[in-house]
Amino acid sequence: MPDIDTLIDAETIAQRVKELGAQITKEHAGEELVLVPVLNGSFVFAADLARAIDLPLSIDFFGCRSYEGTSSTGVVQTTLDLSHSIEGKVVIVVEDIVDTGLTMAYMLDNLRTRRPAKVHLASLLSKPARRKIEVDIDYLGFEIEDVFVIGYGLDFDELYRNLPYLGVLRT
Ligand code: IMP
Repeated sequence: MPDIDTLIDAETIAQRVKELGAQITKEHAGEELVLVPVLNGSFVFAADLARAIDLPLSIDFFGCRSYEGTSSTGVVQTTLDLSHSIEGKVVIVVEDIVDTGLTMAYMLDNLRTRRPAKVHLASLLSKPARRKIEVDIDYLGFEIEDVFVIGYGLDFDELYRNLPYLGVLRT
Protein backbone atom coordinates (compact mmCIF):
# COMPACT_ATOMS: atom_id res chain seq x y z
CA MET A 1 0.00 0.00 0.00
CA PRO A 2 1.36 3.48 -0.81
CA ASP A 3 1.21 6.17 1.88
CA ILE A 4 -2.29 7.43 2.49
CA ASP A 5 -3.17 10.44 4.64
CA THR A 6 -6.43 10.12 6.55
CA LEU A 7 -8.91 12.81 5.58
CA ILE A 8 -11.96 11.61 7.58
CA ASP A 9 -11.68 8.65 9.93
CA ALA A 10 -14.13 5.73 10.12
CA GLU A 11 -15.68 6.82 13.42
CA THR A 12 -16.41 10.35 12.17
CA ILE A 13 -17.97 8.93 8.99
CA ALA A 14 -20.13 6.48 10.99
CA GLN A 15 -21.39 9.26 13.25
CA ARG A 16 -22.28 11.54 10.32
CA VAL A 17 -24.03 8.74 8.41
CA LYS A 18 -26.15 8.00 11.50
CA GLU A 19 -27.12 11.68 11.67
CA LEU A 20 -28.11 11.72 7.99
CA GLY A 21 -30.16 8.55 8.48
CA ALA A 22 -31.96 10.10 11.44
CA GLN A 23 -32.67 13.29 9.47
CA ILE A 24 -34.07 11.32 6.51
CA THR A 25 -36.18 9.20 8.88
CA LYS A 26 -37.63 12.32 10.48
CA GLU A 27 -38.23 14.27 7.27
CA HIS A 28 -39.86 11.32 5.46
CA ALA A 29 -41.94 9.92 8.32
CA GLY A 30 -44.94 8.04 6.93
CA GLU A 31 -43.38 7.60 3.47
CA GLU A 32 -41.94 4.62 1.68
CA LEU A 33 -38.59 5.34 0.03
CA VAL A 34 -36.66 4.05 -2.93
CA LEU A 35 -32.91 4.42 -2.38
CA VAL A 36 -31.00 4.67 -5.63
CA PRO A 37 -27.28 4.19 -4.99
CA VAL A 38 -25.13 5.33 -7.89
CA LEU A 39 -22.57 2.63 -8.59
CA ASN A 40 -19.80 1.99 -8.08
CA GLY A 41 -18.59 4.61 -5.62
CA SER A 42 -21.60 4.85 -3.30
CA PHE A 43 -21.98 1.16 -2.41
CA VAL A 44 -20.38 1.47 1.03
CA PHE A 45 -22.13 4.73 1.96
CA ALA A 46 -25.46 3.36 0.70
CA ALA A 47 -25.12 0.17 2.76
CA ASP A 48 -24.50 2.17 5.93
CA LEU A 49 -27.08 4.88 5.17
CA ALA A 50 -29.81 2.32 4.41
CA ARG A 51 -29.28 0.75 7.83
CA ALA A 52 -29.45 4.16 9.51
CA ILE A 53 -32.92 4.88 8.05
CA ASP A 54 -35.85 3.57 10.06
CA LEU A 55 -38.52 3.57 7.32
CA PRO A 56 -39.79 1.05 4.79
CA LEU A 57 -37.46 1.26 1.80
CA SER A 58 -36.40 -0.57 -1.30
CA ILE A 59 -33.07 -0.30 -3.09
CA ASP A 60 -32.54 -0.09 -6.82
CA PHE A 61 -29.05 0.48 -8.22
CA PHE A 62 -28.09 2.82 -11.03
CA GLY A 63 -24.70 2.62 -12.65
CA CYS A 64 -22.85 5.39 -14.40
CA ARG A 65 -19.29 6.47 -14.93
CA SER A 66 -17.56 9.60 -16.10
CA TYR A 67 -14.10 9.16 -14.63
CA GLU A 68 -10.90 7.49 -15.70
CA GLY A 69 -8.01 7.70 -13.24
CA THR A 70 -8.39 11.04 -11.47
CA SER A 71 -10.02 13.04 -14.26
CA SER A 72 -13.56 13.29 -15.52
CA THR A 73 -14.07 12.32 -19.16
CA GLY A 74 -16.95 14.82 -19.20
CA VAL A 75 -19.20 12.21 -20.80
CA VAL A 76 -21.56 10.33 -18.50
CA GLN A 77 -22.28 6.74 -19.51
CA THR A 78 -25.06 4.60 -18.04
CA THR A 79 -23.66 1.20 -17.12
CA LEU A 80 -26.71 -0.19 -15.28
CA ASP A 81 -30.32 0.98 -15.35
CA LEU A 82 -32.96 0.72 -12.59
CA SER A 83 -34.82 -2.55 -12.52
CA HIS A 84 -38.19 -1.12 -11.35
CA SER A 85 -40.40 1.85 -12.23
CA ILE A 86 -40.05 4.86 -9.91
CA GLU A 87 -43.26 6.52 -11.11
CA GLY A 88 -45.04 8.12 -8.15
CA LYS A 89 -42.28 7.06 -5.71
CA VAL A 90 -40.17 9.07 -3.27
CA VAL A 91 -36.61 8.56 -4.47
CA ILE A 92 -33.38 9.29 -2.65
CA VAL A 93 -30.35 9.15 -4.92
CA VAL A 94 -27.26 8.11 -2.98
CA GLU A 95 -23.95 9.40 -4.35
CA ASP A 96 -20.38 9.20 -3.07
CA ILE A 97 -19.20 12.63 -4.15
CA VAL A 98 -20.44 15.61 -6.14
CA ASP A 99 -17.41 17.06 -7.89
CA THR A 100 -18.10 19.00 -11.12
CA GLY A 101 -21.78 18.09 -10.69
CA LEU A 102 -22.05 16.76 -14.26
CA THR A 103 -22.85 13.19 -13.22
CA MET A 104 -25.60 14.24 -10.81
CA ALA A 105 -27.13 16.77 -13.21
CA TYR A 106 -27.36 13.96 -15.80
CA MET A 107 -28.70 11.45 -13.27
CA LEU A 108 -31.33 13.73 -11.77
CA ASP A 109 -32.57 14.84 -15.21
CA ASN A 110 -32.75 11.21 -16.30
CA LEU A 111 -34.70 10.13 -13.19
CA ARG A 112 -37.13 13.08 -13.37
CA THR A 113 -38.28 11.98 -16.83
CA ARG A 114 -39.65 8.83 -15.11
CA ARG A 115 -42.17 10.89 -13.11
CA PRO A 116 -41.27 10.06 -9.50
CA ALA A 117 -43.26 11.89 -6.77
CA LYS A 118 -40.02 13.43 -5.45
CA VAL A 119 -36.29 13.06 -6.00
CA HIS A 120 -33.80 13.93 -3.26
CA LEU A 121 -30.04 13.69 -3.26
CA ALA A 122 -27.86 12.32 -0.47
CA SER A 123 -24.13 12.68 -1.09
CA LEU A 124 -21.37 11.67 1.28
CA LEU A 125 -19.01 14.34 -0.04
CA SER A 126 -19.06 17.57 -2.00
CA LYS A 127 -16.18 19.51 -3.55
CA PRO A 128 -17.83 22.91 -4.22
CA ALA A 129 -14.61 24.45 -5.61
CA ARG A 130 -14.86 22.13 -8.63
CA ARG A 131 -18.51 22.68 -9.50
CA LYS A 132 -19.36 23.33 -13.18
CA ILE A 133 -23.11 22.97 -12.81
CA GLU A 134 -25.26 23.69 -9.77
CA VAL A 135 -26.62 20.65 -7.93
CA ASP A 136 -28.80 20.82 -4.81
CA ILE A 137 -27.69 18.29 -2.21
CA ASP A 138 -30.48 17.61 0.31
CA TYR A 139 -28.41 15.41 2.62
CA LEU A 140 -24.67 16.11 2.64
CA GLY A 141 -22.08 14.25 4.70
CA PHE A 142 -19.03 16.50 4.40
CA GLU A 143 -17.85 19.41 2.30
CA ILE A 144 -14.18 18.96 1.35
CA GLU A 145 -11.36 20.85 -0.36
CA ASP A 146 -10.26 20.14 -3.91
CA VAL A 147 -8.30 16.94 -3.20
CA PHE A 148 -8.70 13.51 -4.79
CA VAL A 149 -10.08 11.18 -2.13
CA ILE A 150 -10.10 7.40 -1.90
CA GLY A 151 -11.67 4.84 0.42
CA TYR A 152 -15.15 4.13 1.86
CA GLY A 153 -16.23 3.17 -1.67
CA LEU A 154 -14.25 5.77 -3.63
CA ASP A 155 -11.52 4.55 -5.95
CA PHE A 156 -8.39 5.53 -7.77
CA ASP A 157 -8.38 3.39 -10.94
CA GLU A 158 -10.78 0.92 -9.25
CA LEU A 159 -8.53 0.37 -6.21
CA TYR A 160 -8.86 1.44 -2.54
CA ARG A 161 -12.67 1.19 -2.39
CA ASN A 162 -12.26 -1.17 0.58
CA LEU A 163 -10.43 1.30 2.84
CA PRO A 164 -12.69 1.82 5.89
CA TYR A 165 -11.89 5.56 6.02
CA LEU A 166 -11.53 8.46 3.55
CA GLY A 167 -7.96 9.22 2.60
CA VAL A 168 -5.73 11.10 0.19
CA LEU A 169 -2.85 9.42 -1.65
CA ARG A 170 0.48 10.98 -0.68
CA THR A 171 2.40 11.88 -3.83
P1 IMP B 1 -18.72 14.75 -11.21
O1 IMP B 1 -19.53 14.33 -12.39
O2 IMP B 1 -17.50 15.53 -11.65
O3 IMP B 1 -19.48 15.45 -10.14
O4 IMP B 1 -18.08 13.43 -10.64
C1 IMP B 1 -18.75 12.55 -9.87
C2 IMP B 1 -18.05 11.21 -9.85
O5 IMP B 1 -16.64 11.33 -10.06
C3 IMP B 1 -18.19 10.61 -8.49
O6 IMP B 1 -19.35 9.83 -8.42
C4 IMP B 1 -16.93 9.78 -8.36
O7 IMP B 1 -17.14 8.51 -8.91
C5 IMP B 1 -15.91 10.50 -9.19
N1 IMP B 1 -15.03 11.36 -8.34
C6 IMP B 1 -15.02 12.70 -8.26
N2 IMP B 1 -14.10 13.13 -7.37
C7 IMP B 1 -13.53 12.01 -6.88
C8 IMP B 1 -12.50 11.80 -5.89
O8 IMP B 1 -11.93 12.71 -5.27
N3 IMP B 1 -12.19 10.49 -5.65
C9 IMP B 1 -12.78 9.45 -6.29
N4 IMP B 1 -13.74 9.61 -7.20
C10 IMP B 1 -14.11 10.88 -7.50
